[in-house]
Amino acid sequence: MSLRKLLVDVHTHLYLPRYASVLRSRSNAPRILTRNSPSGQSEDRLLILDDEPSGGRPVGPQYWDRDEKLKFMDQHGIDISFVSSANPWLDFLPFPEAQELAQQLNADLESYCSGGPSVVSAVELKRLYGFGLLPLVPGAPSEALSEAVSQLARQHPHIRGIIISTQGVGEGLDDPALEPLWASLAETGLVVFLHPHYGVSAQAWGTRDNGHVLPLALGFPFETTTAITRLILAGVLDRHPNLRLLLAHSGGALPQLSSRLASCIEHDPVLAGRLAHDARWYLGRMWFDAVAYGAAELGFVSETVGRASGCGQGGGTADVRRGRKEGASRMLFGTDHPFFPPLGEAGKWRSVVENLEAIERVDQWSEEDKEGVRGRNALTLFGLSP
Ligand code: URA
Ligand code: ZN
Repeated sequence: MSLRKLLVDVHTHLYLPRYASVLRSRSNAPRILTRNSPSGQSEDRLLILDDEPSGGRPVGPQYWDRDEKLKFMDQHGIDISFVSSANPWLDFLPFPEAQELAQQLNADLESYCSGGPSVVSAVELKRLYGFGLLPLVPGAPSEALSEAVSQLARQHPHIRGIIISTQGVGEGLDDPALEPLWASLAETGLVVFLHPHYGVSAQAWGTRDNGHVLPLALGFPFETTTAITRLILAGVLDRHPNLRLLLAHSGGALPQLSSRLASCIEHDPVLAGRLAHDARWYLGRMWFDAVAYGAAELGFVSETVGRASGCGQGGGTADVRRGRKEGASRMLFGTDHPFFPPLGEAGKWRSVVENLEAIERVDQWSEEDKEGVRGRNALTLFGLSP
């Protein structure tokens, strides 16, 4: 198999067994509890969101068992997965506990990945790589965070990035206290996967029971949109242009709102002149997963990102084509496994098939662009290209 054809999943989660034990030991969210299902059988439920609807979600070995991850990958033709801990990470722990657990979980993740199989056609490539965790919680000293970053980069070759929430050390991602962290992340080249957990105020959802739909479909991407916009407005990407940020769920609403954002900045006396670039430019400095479930949305994000990179601004056909290529090169296939399992039906997961079909159907993308989104872009971003 040629490396060009590998299918690589950059958005796929797990709860390592050590983390699942912590969740089981807790009596309030985030927690895993065991209860009797309506049919009288014992079942594990995951309660992680504030105001968790529907008594949480079912949770089982697909969240912690490596064989289950590999089985899922085989079933969907996924060659390589960049596995990340699922929310809410260590956010709920005091710093000393978060620091100790982060070190243990990163070591566990390294073994999880290195002890797994290799890609048959390219033995130097493993099938599993990971995003590690930082003790990024209130009270975390800046030096400890920077030290954790360099430790990760030094000690764990299969950990190629970190996954972070939108909270930083409690004040969000525009907090000046995070400057040393951004500097060390930019220096190591670890990819920073920004992922939501908190959504927006539950008041926005009204009182009707809509299951998890509103917090997941809307709250998650709104949260990412706000967090990354605050980071941009704080000038983080001006000061750390080598920071490599990967945004969950195709960047939420940021691509759709980027020109409005640029205009609001231009018209605001507080912001005018603060940033080194037009707000749209920053989109072209980031990466976006392709977890959007629709071809039109993927095409729109890549077009917007491509124009943002400056290549497509000229208006000539060649500029537009170059911008399009650049946009497509910043998008990467993902599944969000083990979330969004099928409701009953056996076989391939609809959530995965939809994301693959969406990539296939983006009109603006050439076959080469699509192969990039399915795998090559990830290998390049994570430094695994031959
Ligand atoms: N639900 C979650 O809580 N996390 C995800 O990553 C996806 C769905
Ligand atoms: Zn996710």
